[in-house]
Amino acid sequence: MYYIYRVFAFTKGELWPYMKLNEIKNMDCLKYLRSLPDNSVDLVVTDPPYNVSQKTNIKYKDLNVTKNFGDWDFGFDPAPVMAEIKRVLKPKGQIFVFCSTDQIPKYMDIFKEKWQFRNLLVWYKTNPAPRLSKTNFVFANEYIIYAINDPEVKPGQVTFNWQGHKEMHNTIITGALQGKERLRNKDGKATHPTQKPLSILKKLIEIGSNKEDVVLDCFMGVGSTAVACKELNRNFVGCELDIKYYQEGNKRIN
Ligand SMILES: C[S@@+](CC[C@H](N)C(=O)[O-])C[C@H]1O[C@@H](n2cnc3c(N)ncnc32)[C@H](O)[C@@H]1O
Repeated sequence: MYYIYRVFAFTKGELWPYMKLNEIKNMDCLKYLRSLPDNSVDLVVTDPPYNVSQKTNIKYKDLNVTKNFGDWDFGFDPAPVMAEIKRVLKPKGQIFVFCSTDQIPKYMDIFKEKWQFRNLLVWYKTNPAPRLSKTNFVFANEYIIYAINDPEVKPGQVTFNWQGHKEMHNTIITGALQGKERLRNKDGKATHPTQKPLSILKKLIEIGSNKEDVVLDCFMGVGSTAVACKELNRNFVGCELDIKYYQEGNKRIN
C-alpha cells in the first residue's frame, strides 16, 4: 500500500524516497518525512511545537507580556508525524521527543499503543519564566519522552550507552538557554524563542546512538540537533519550515 502511495506521490511531484545525509531541508515535516525511505534512521531526537503560545498578551501592572512564539506553536497534532517517524525509524531505533505538560497524555497514547514506551524524562529548568500573577505554580519543567520503535524488541538489544548512575537519573537539571550559546539578532533579541541547550541534546544522542549513526530531527529550529550531531560524529537529517530559522541553522552548522 505504501509503495502505491509513493508512486502516486512521485507523479504528483513529491520526492522519491531518498536521504541525503548532513543536510537540513527547508520543508514541512510531513512532506519531508514522506520523502525518506523506510527503516533508514537510527535515532530520533526532536523538539516539536509545544502548543503553549497565547494570542493575547498577558497584562500585569504596567507590563504587557507576550507569550506567542509564532503561528507554528498553535494546533500541532503529533499523531501523523509520529506515524511517519515510526516508518522511517529502524525497528531497534529509539526516539527522544520534547513536550510540554499538556501534551503528555496525547504522546502517552501514541507511544503506549504502537511503540515501546520506556521513560518520561524531566528537564528541570533552574531559571523558569516567572509567574507574574502569582496565582499558580511556576512551570519549571519540560519533558522528554523516551521510546523504542518496535514493542517486541528487548531493551538490551538497542543502543543504550550507559553513563553511570548519577548521569542516568531521569531528571536533567540545567537552565533554559542563555549566554554565548543563545543565538541573538542584531537587536539583542533571541533568534529562536525555544532554542534547546546543546548539553541536553548531546547527552540524549550519546546515549541513544553510536558514531556514524543517522539521527533525525524534523523540527530543527536553528539547527541545534544538527550541531550536536556534528560535535559527536553522528550523521544528521532533518527539516525546518521557517526560512529564517532554517538559514540561521545552516549558518551555524557550516
Ligand atoms: C520547539 S522549536 C525547535 C527548536 C530547536 N530544538 C532549536 O533548538 O532550535 C519547533 C520548530 O518547529 C518548526 N516547525 C513548526 N511546524 C513545522 C512543520 N510543520 N514542519 C517543519 N518544521 C516545523 C518551527 O518553525 C520551530 O522552529
